[in-house]
Amino acid sequence: MITDFFSYRHDALHCDQVPLADIAARAGTPCYVYSAGAIRARIAAYDQALAGVPHCVCYAVKANSNLALLALAAAAGTGFDIVSGGELYRVLKAGGDPAKVVFSGVGKTAAEIEYALEQRIHSFNCESEAELVLIDALAARRGVRARVALRVNPDVDAATHPYISTGLREHKFGIDMAEIDAVYQRALALGSLELEGVSCHIGSQILDIGALMEAVDKMLALAGRLRAAGLPIRHLDLGGGLGVAYAPGTVTPDAGAFASAVRARVEGHGLTLMLEPGRSIVAEAGVLVTRVLYRKHSPRKEFIIVDAAMTDLIRPALYKAHHEIIPLRRTALGTVRADVVGPVCETGDFLARDRDVANVLPGDFLAVCTAGAYGFVSASNYNSRPRPAEVLVDGGAWRVVRARETFEDLVRGETAP
Ligand code: LLP
Repeated sequence: MITDFFSYRHDALHCDQVPLADIAARAGTPCYVYSAGAIRARIAAYDQALAGVPHCVCYAVKANSNLALLALAAAAGTGFDIVSGGELYRVLKAGGDPAKVVFSGVGKTAAEIEYALEQRIHSFNCESEAELVLIDALAARRGVRARVALRVNPDVDAATHPYISTGLREHKFGIDMAEIDAVYQRALALGSLELEGVSCHIGSQILDIGALMEAVDKMLALAGRLRAAGLPIRHLDLGGGLGVAYAPGTVTPDAGAFASAVRARVEGHGLTLMLEPGRSIVAEAGVLVTRVLYRKHSPRKEFIIVDAAMTDLIRPALYKAHHEIIPLRRTALGTVRADVVGPVCETGDFLARDRDVANVLPGDFLAVCTAGAYGFVSASNYNSRPRPAEVLVDGGAWRVVRARETFEDLVRGETAP
């Protein structure tokens, strides 16, 4: 991942203007490093492509919910897509505007809905009739009206990893397209709802935007039908899903090209466009820096044992995801075919398998690329490993935006008899 924001200068990998080795030396490893400039650039690409069209880029908090990143996004003018009360808490703490928050997810609890109503979020993306009834009742009790978009399952194949494909009829998400018109009609009887939107989200890490465009067309047709039936549909939320190039040679549209394609279809329909991008904003803006602990040769394999593990970045173990792994300092030692593995006691604990990687030695550092999305947020304390530090680089300056956890942190809240 050599981008405008991560590049080699004099053989040393930099994030913006800062050598990553300086950060590794002072903040320790493993540690996540994010580029503020890269995040701002991705947000700007969405906004520029949609200039003049009423829209809101609601950054999907789940992709990376560090307060510093949320504050950065809020300052760049984004709204937020949340899926829990905890995410709403983070958005508010980071100075995000609740009036630009949409609340997605199949299993919102009553307490979470009440919290969101109290904070006057923009709207709920409602995933079932039972949830609609609950939101209506809780809004009525507060004497307010809740803005709602029903999340439709448009039955479009996102052609991505099955665990993160969400728009097929057999998935738990959304309301079936065949039932949706009737559900909207029945919902009209609920007095504390404003049924003002339609929403969908067909999956994540989508590389072929044909599927996303198919969903856009289905949603526009739905909005048209509902309006004809007298519903005041004002906004169209297309969810997130745009993929990024993890492996070299992957061809995928960038945020600007994708947003332009959406614009071409949606413009002129008199709808406010909402998007919920997560990965396409933060994935390429982050790396996981790790130190080589040992080299190990076995008859069958060569291992590079590093201090980062599946607990820090679970994507390779969970989805067999590919992340490029590059050295912080280019050496003359060439490459070696190896498995890059962590210290956790599972064979599934690998960051790369049978990969030609730099022939690094113990004490050298590696960067696991494209790790800004779904990296730290999915980290765990398995094997009682403290979660890593997070660092934000802005131009030539950097600061720790989440301290490395301590052993004390590991046992917080626990009691021994
Ligand atoms: N909106 C909703 C309702 C979602 O469920 C998601 C992601 C997004 C927006 C953001 O999608 P994005 O633009 O980031 O593709 N842990 C997995 C990804 C899970 C995605 C879940 N939903 C991974 O590491 O690939």
